[in-house]
Amino acid sequence: MIGLLSALTVSAAFAADGPPAWAYGFPPAGAPAAPAGGGGRGAQGAPDNSPKHLAGTNLEFTLSQIRDGFGPADWFPGDHPTMPEIVAHGRRPDIRACALCHYPNGKGRAENAPIAGYPVSYFIRQMNDFRSGNRKSAEPRKANTNAMIAIAKAMTAEEIKASAEYFGAMPWTQWIRVVETDMVPKTRISGGLFLALEGSEKEPIGGRIIEVPESTETTETYRNPRSGFIAYAPPGSVKKGESLVTSGGGKTLACGGCHGADLKGLGPVPGIAGRSPSYLVRQMYDMQAGARKGEWTPLMTKVVSQLSEDDMLAIAAYTASLKP
Ligand code: HEC
Ligand code: HEC
Repeated sequence: MIGLLSALTVSAAFAADGPPAWAYGFPPAGAPAAPAGGGGRGAQGAPDNSPKHLAGTNLEFTLSQIRDGFGPADWFPGDHPTMPEIVAHGRRPDIRACALCHYPNGKGRAENAPIAGYPVSYFIRQMNDFRSGNRKSAEPRKANTNAMIAIAKAMTAEEIKASAEYFGAMPWTQWIRVVETDMVPKTRISGGLFLALEGSEKEPIGGRIIEVPESTETTETYRNPRSGFIAYAPPGSVKKGESLVTSGGGKTLACGGCHGADLKGLGPVPGIAGRSPSYLVRQMYDMQAGARKGEWTPLMTKVVSQLSEDDMLAIAAYTASLKP
């Protein structure tokens, strides 16, 4: 009884604290405004129309081609099957190309979602949940989730199926490196993405996972779909997460029964191994807060109902550390 009461208190306290800012790409409440991002937009003056290059490809693109919402750069066409029209170009005026945010290979970035390697039925269900209002962000300021919802609402069933089959055909592979540490690089936030500041200044990690690109410029400016992420996590989180994931720790259910023993997915249940920890924490919190409540989400209700923010952090640090 006492155990139950204290568990309830913990989860009520957590919900009252609101969405964990770090997972949703916002500075902690009360923090001073972050410096504006440079973002390769160039200084004042003439726009930069010079061709840009990346190691490993002879293709070249200008900055505006790289971030063209209706046909972003495809640096490595040999890395993926031929993209359906909706993935490569989207459809004007409302549907920006999936490849813009999730990359042509579906790896995605910490501020959006990793969408390669999911069961087709899971992918389609998510799109339908976005469309019906059953999947939102618990953080209403998270503008790109709102953009995702608008995109899903504008899509036809054929476009949804084509994109689900395209991304589902690519296996999920390693994209994130988990590093436990007390101190993290100081960061700025650009569109919900944490980016390490130039220089070597550090700050205490506190109770956060800070997920940053391996190379700021490569990810932010060039959108290189071969350049992955580092997830800094507090010391001990991977081990604590392992215990919750494998045994439930009296607070949750072991994940392997539904997500597969290796957490790479099982039947219609999505894989969670080696995927963005910030994204995963957003999903667990969204489900706990009732913002994500699709047809299949009730299977996750017992899993998330008693998790504190620290539990979610530990679980995501562990799952992100697994080799997919
Ligand atoms: C403007 C950027 C943007 C574009 C363009 C975009 N998405 Fe997304 N997508 C997001 C964000 C942001 C999320 C949700 C992240 C969150 O809420 O934590 C998301 C989530 C998803 C998910 C859910 C993944 C999961 O694991 O449940 C799917 C599926 C998806 N997108 C498919 C697509 C498809 C298909 C397209 C192209 C038609 C597309 N997206 C275009 C930003 C984008
Ligand atoms: C009883 C079965 C079951 C168990 C046990 C379970 N899950 Fe899930 N999980 C699901 C289902 C089904 C979905 C898809 C939910 C939906 O469609 O909204 C899901 C979705 C998720 C998602 C969202 C994935 C995405 O791409 O958006 C996360 C994160 C997640 N589970 C984490 C966990 C963790 C961590 C555990 C263990 C602590 C766990 N789950 C245990 C059934 C389960």
